[in-house]
This record gives sequence, C-alpha cells and structure tokens, in this order.
Amino acid sequence: MGALFAQNTLGVATPIVQAPMAGVTTPEFVAASANAGILGSIGAGYLTAEATRNCIREVKSLTDKSFSVNLFVPEKVDASDEQIAQAHEALKPFLQELNLLEEPVKLSTSEFAEQVKVVVDEGVKICSFTFGIPDQEIISYLHKHNVYCIGTATTVDEAIAVEQAGLDAVVLQGGEAGGHRGTFLEPFVLIPTIELLKTTTGKIKLPIITAGGIMSKQQMDEMLDAGADAVQIGTALLVAEESGAHPLHKEAILQSEKDVTALTAAFSGKAARGILNDFMTYMKDQPIAPYPVQNDLTKEIRKEAGQQGKAEYLSMWAGKNVFLVKAGTVEEIVQRFLIEDH
Ligand SMILES: Cc1cc2nc3c(=O)[nH]c(=O)nc-3n(C[C@H](O)[C@H](O)[C@H](O)COP(=O)(O)O)c2cc1C
Repeated sequence: MGALFAQNTLGVATPIVQAPMAGVTTPEFVAASANAGILGSIGAGYLTAEATRNCIREVKSLTDKSFSVNLFVPEKVDASDEQIAQAHEALKPFLQELNLLEEPVKLSTSEFAEQVKVVVDEGVKICSFTFGIPDQEIISYLHKHNVYCIGTATTVDEAIAVEQAGLDAVVLQGGEAGGHRGTFLEPFVLIPTIELLKTTTGKIKLPIITAGGIMSKQQMDEMLDAGADAVQIGTALLVAEESGAHPLHKEAILQSEKDVTALTAAFSGKAARGILNDFMTYMKDQPIAPYPVQNDLTKEIRKEAGQQGKAEYLSMWAGKNVFLVKAGTVEEIVQRFLIEDH
C-alpha cells in the first residue's frame, strides 16, 4: 500500500517524506532527499514569497525529482501592546547578554497568499500545510492547478476537519514529534504517534502520513503495517550533512541521551518540542507573547546566539526519540530506513 501511494501519488520510490523543517530545509537538503528517493519538502513557513520562489528554483536546478512545499496557515495576530511589552521585557537578560538591547522590535507579516501563488506559478505539484486549514478559495485554486494538498492533524478531530475541508491527504503528527505542534483545534493534547494512527484509521478515508519519533526501519514498518500510507521523518534527517541546521544543533542531537526534549512556547508563542536548554528553563514562568509575535521578539536572540556559538539560547527542535539519531548524508540516513538491522 505504502509503495503504491509513494509512486502514484507522491511520485517517489519509497513511502518516506522528508519532513518540511522551516529554517533548515536548504535547497541542497531538499534536493538530496528527492535524489535519495523520498519526498523532499521545502519548509517555507518563514520565507517571503520571493524567497520561496528562489528556493523552489534552486531545488529544481539540483533535482528533476518530485518535491513539495510546506506553508504555515496564517493566524490572526492577537497580542495587545501591553502583552508585547511584557514579553519583550522578559527577554531583556538575553538581549543584554547578546548585546541586542538597542535593536528595534520588528513584527513580521505573512505572505501566505502570495506563497500559494508562487507554488502554482512554479509548477510544484504537492503543497502541505500546518497550523490550520487554508480557506476554501485557496484549496480550490490549488486543486484547479492540480496541486495535491496535504494537511496536518494532531488529533482525530483535526484529521476529520482536514478531510471535510477537501484536502487530499493528512500528516498525523504524534506527540513525540520534534518542532512545532500543528494543533489548530482545542484541546491541546499529545497523543503517541502509533495511537493517533490507530484511532484515526477507519474514521477518515484520506491517505495518512504519520510523523513523530520514527527513527528506524522497524518503526517505519510498524506504522505502514498499522495502516499508514507513508511516514514523515524530521529529526533523523535534521543532522544530515546537507541539512541547514546549526552545527551546534546537530551536535546536540548526536550527543543526546534519553528524555532530553521538552515542549516550550518560549521561542515562538506556539508549543514546540526541542532539546531542553537554559533559554527554555529560564522562560518557563515568564510572560510570552502569542504566536507569531513571540517568534519575532526572539528572532535576533536566536540569530545572534547562532553567530556567537551559544547553544543555550538556540531553538534546537528535536523529537522525543532524538537519542536514536545517527550521523550521515541524506542518502546514508535514508538507506538505514530501507535496509534491515540498522
Ligand atoms: C527542526 C524542525 C522544524 C520543523 N518545521 C516544520 C515546518 O516548518 N512545517 C511542518 O509542517 N512541520 C515542521 N516540523 C515537524 C515535522 O514535520 C514532523 O512533524 C516531525 O519532525 C516528526 O517528528 P520527528 O522529528 O520525531 O521525526 C519541524 C520539525 C523539526 C524537528
């Protein structure tokens, strides 16, 4: 079943999707994934429309294989001036330490609608979404141009909502997953990946791609045997030589032990799983602005921490099973998912 879905629908040899990972998925990384026989995915969530176009063109120059683009469905920005001021104040110890106190706060705006147009203009045939469901106008526009649309769900109810909205497939993101939770309906819950898969199968007809904690062929096969049409792999590929993750992020993953990850909203205002560090610990009881404002407020901290080599202030997204990750090129890592005994 997985092989047919991969070949006929995703246009790739194996039922594996390289997780879209905003900030990490350089053209080289996406193309290396596509060339390794899995679905490469550009995590375009934080990109402008122009940067999205440039990234797509670069991937096309590096591979003639199928790849997808992932977008963040925009949310209403709901932060008062007072909330923003308090959240900014809470970040001052970090801003001071990194010499950023004089930097003005710049709030971002989403170019989602323009990005969707770029996807169509550039002839990308698969587009996935997280943080919600695009409106009907966008879905119809993409379908009119034969773009296959994939939603993200973290509960059965969200998976049903994705199906009812008319999307073509769903990524079921389990509680082990690294990075941001795609949650868009109450309640916020962490359901183990295999349990989410088993409770959703039979409730929807859409093809299912499972994500969260999949680090080996054995875990992949367990998902495919339980009814998944494909698996989506993030953390295991994040350390690949071609990945754009910060070297300190890769190092932290490769040296990690069990139970080193935690959920935090401190970097972006939205819950995400990463390797616990000083920033996450300090910010636990501090005021945080809602997403995406908090993301804007911490942007310079993360950038400067990267430049100064301070892993304690970086957002080092990683899934719960991070301690199982091994180094390699994309090709080598993908091969471990295809050959027994790894
Ligand atoms: C560094 C990082 C960035 C991520 N960024 C995105 C993103 O931009 N869009 C998205 O849909 N999912 C994103 N995710 C979540 C992945 O799609 C996927 O759910 C997760 O990586 C699966 O769990 P695993 O990391 O244990 O394999 C990200 C995950 C990581 C680790």
